[in-house]
Amino acid sequence: MNVCILMGSPRKHGNTAALLKPFMEELDACGYESEMIRLYDLEIKPCIACRNCQQDWSGFNCSFDDDGQQVAQKLLACDMIVLATPVYSWYCTPPMKALLDRMVYGLNKYYGDKKGPSLWKGKRVALITTCGYPPEKGADLLEEGIKRYCKHSQLIYKGMLAERHMGYETVFMDEGKERRAREFAARLCAALDQE
Ligand SMILES: Cc1cc2nc3c(=O)[nH]c(=O)nc-3n(C[C@H](O)[C@H](O)[C@H](O)COP(=O)(O)O)c2cc1C
Repeated sequence: MNVCILMGSPRKHGNTAALLKPFMEELDACGYESEMIRLYDLEIKPCIACRNCQQDWSGFNCSFDDDGQQVAQKLLACDMIVLATPVYSWYCTPPMKALLDRMVYGLNKYYGDKKGPSLWKGKRVALITTCGYPPEKGADLLEEGIKRYCKHSQLIYKGMLAERHMGYETVFMDEGKERRAREFAARLCAALDQE
């Protein structure tokens, strides 16, 4: 099993990164291969709705020759996608939003003259997020948006790990967060193993 982690925090050693460390260690312990792609290191232009991607259903076929191309190939090749992002203004960060927009068109051939297929139908998706508000008020809209994105794209949503950041003067990680990150990974692996 191959897991593609899209890392949407600009802070390489921030809260989302800290949560991903035990999560990835646990994936490894379960025998899953994972790769983290740092979206802030890439060039991913925003979708301009040219719909060139809708002419050809054989692949992503976006007109932009940027890093969105290689990310699309990695998403098509993996078994599970993990969206890891801090909450910014009640949703994901800008490079992740740009990527989600590029993929919702490039990989869902729904928007041309005839309705075509979802090229990534059936891929599993999990969400890892950190936020300043309690998760039920900080991450609820993000989760709802990702759930609808998955339903629309025929992806299978597998759940969210959301942890609260109490402020920059506090230490983010603690035993509970580390345990829940490991448990989340183990639960995802167990669910995938059974499918
Ligand atoms: C520009 C910006 C916008 C934010 N918007 C929200 C928000 O809408 N809701 C929330 O609960 N927290 C919000 N936060 C807090 C972050 O989600 C929180 O600090 C997070 O843990 C940062 O993760 P990181 O260290 O991985 O970057 C915001 C932080 C920033 C910098």
